[in-house]
Amino acid sequence: MALAPSFMKAVITTEDHNIKVQELSNLSVSQISVPSIESERQILIHSAGINPTDWKHAKHLSPEGTISGCDLAGVVEDSGRSKEVKVGDRLAAFVHGGNYKNYGAFAEYALVEPDTSIRLPEYMSFDQGATLGIPLGTAAFALYHKLKLPEPGVVIPRSFPVLIWSGSSAVGQYAIQLAKLSGLSVVTTASFQHHERLRSLGADSVFDYHDPHVSEKIKEATHNDLAYALDCVSSEESLKSVTDAFGEKGGKVAVLLSPEGKDIRKDAEVVPVLVYTCLGKEFTFAGKKYPASADDRQFYERWVKMANGLLEEKKIVTLPTEDRGGLEGVASAFKDMEEGKNKGVKYVIHP
Ligand SMILES: NC(=O)c1ccc[n+]([C@@H]2O[C@H](COP(=O)([O-])OP(=O)(O)OC[C@H]3O[C@@H](n4cnc5c(N)ncnc54)[C@H](OP(=O)(O)O)[C@@H]3O)[C@@H](O)[C@H]2O)c1
Repeated sequence: MALAPSFMKAVITTEDHNIKVQELSNLSVSQISVPSIESERQILIHSAGINPTDWKHAKHLSPEGTISGCDLAGVVEDSGRSKEVKVGDRLAAFVHGGNYKNYGAFAEYALVEPDTSIRLPEYMSFDQGATLGIPLGTAAFALYHKLKLPEPGVVIPRSFPVLIWSGSSAVGQYAIQLAKLSGLSVVTTASFQHHERLRSLGADSVFDYHDPHVSEKIKEATHNDLAYALDCVSSEESLKSVTDAFGEKGGKVAVLLSPEGKDIRKDAEVVPVLVYTCLGKEFTFAGKKYPASADDRQFYERWVKMANGLLEEKKIVTLPTEDRGGLEGVASAFKDMEEGKNKGVKYVIHP
């Protein structure tokens, strides 16, 4: 069994929580001890994907000295006590970055758990793998576990519409594909430049969210029958637009942030989604304690098996990527992401 070295480089969060994203360039790429191996396996990280949550954690939430970054892909260096994987296996996973001193993706090594890691098919690069964890996991968790929409392979008596608001977002691009695999009629919104790509991913109709009449147009296109939506923006404004598009019976919308939703219709049910609960561990997020959820963890383990099959069969297209360099590239990528420059692409780094 090859043992990982005793030291590694990682991007860690700094002391001052008021730091703006520019100041995250002070994030130190420093030498820290490689965490000890419990039941998890040690993975050597080849690519790490950057998510909005990473800069938000660093800027608003992370205690000092935690390892930043959630999404990673790499090769197993040490399989610990795991019997299911061996040294050399290629995996992708997400961890709750910016929350622990010994778990994080922006590092040379990370600990990941066997049952929540995706096996990378041979054809798939580490960069592609690094786009999977949080965005694909969130899309699946929201659609299948939170909204209880049919999973791929389930026969449905009649197709019905689902709205993916902000289909060009990382979560949105995967959600479009998953909803299509379930046989649903997929309606989405995005800036005009993404419309062709989103159609190629399976969207049946695409609307520009800048259009002031977008909700009415969606309502008309869905014959006043829309009852399910995933809001990948989850602002007050987007939530209003989404629920305004619901049909005469109202509907359920999964949200990824916490809009108050004061002005929305009474027949709209808002379903909060926080993907970290899929890891089945207790944690604190934005000052609120989340107990360990065995139910969410069970779903996620089942989803990972399903995802392995779908990826092996090339039924899911990964996100376009942009190379942002090594660990030192994280700070400028955070800045660009906070400024909304990552339109339609996933930033990746190579620790
Ligand atoms: N709760 C959870 O578990 C969870 C999990 C994952 C993500 N999130 C959150 O969900 C959000 C989406 O994450 P992501 O990684 O998918 O995002 P992303 O890839 O960074 O999203 C980028 C896209 O957002 C679109 N956008 C930006 N502002 C918009 C607006 N006002 N209205 C409509 N679209 C807008 C842009 O679309 P156009 O280019 O088309 O203009 C852009 O391409 C983030 O806030 C993230 O923190 C939460």
